[in-house]
Amino acid sequence: MSKIAIVYGSSTGATEAVAEKIKASFDDAALFNADGVSVDDLKPFDFLIFGASTTGIGDLQDDWEILLPKVEKMDFSGKKVALFSLGDSASFSASFAGAMYHIYKALKGKVEFVGSVSTDGYSFDDSDAVIDGKFIGLALDEDNEYNETDARIAAWVDDLKKYV
Ligand SMILES: Cc1cc2nc3c(=O)[nH]c(=O)nc-3n(C[C@H](O)[C@H](O)[C@H](O)COP(=O)(O)O)c2cc1C
Repeated sequence: MSKIAIVYGSSTGATEAVAEKIKASFDDAALFNADGVSVDDLKPFDFLIFGASTTGIGDLQDDWEILLPKVEKMDFSGKKVALFSLGDSASFSASFAGAMYHIYKALKGKVEFVGSVSTDGYSFDDSDAVIDGKFIGLALDEDNEYNETDARIAAWVDDLKKYV
């Protein structure tokens, strides 16, 4: 069993609440706020789950924006990474849940990503987080589709458990 850490960046609490649900879905996972976590804190973990809300127009949440240049320099040998991001598919339909793309872009080539998700059941116009027809991680919409969140997390965590 790998050691699991979840690192979330949340500006108004929605991503934090989701990160707590994801943590509760695993038997044993550590939870860190991107605001305050250090690369040293993350070294002991084999399985890293990085989550952030989307701000601006498809931009990365502020605390993760500060953390990312440090995480980029981490040694990821033997580690797996899964991503999730929150967004608002009604108000920001053309940049839905784009936050995770920024983490993906920075770590691509250094990291083994797992946990891509079908876009079936989502409605939005465009998202940088969709690559080759799938979300690169879990997209969640607590503004409009909060009724879907628990089932989306359950299906995703089920998939991730193949890798931990
Ligand atoms: C200034 C601002 C910009 C946003 N930009 C986007 C966006 O481009 N795409 C998107 O999907 N959601 C966007 N959102 C919606 C948030 O990502 C969403 O409400 C999220 O649940 C907030 O999570 P948090 O409370 O953890 O920060 C934006 C919200 C704000 C306040």
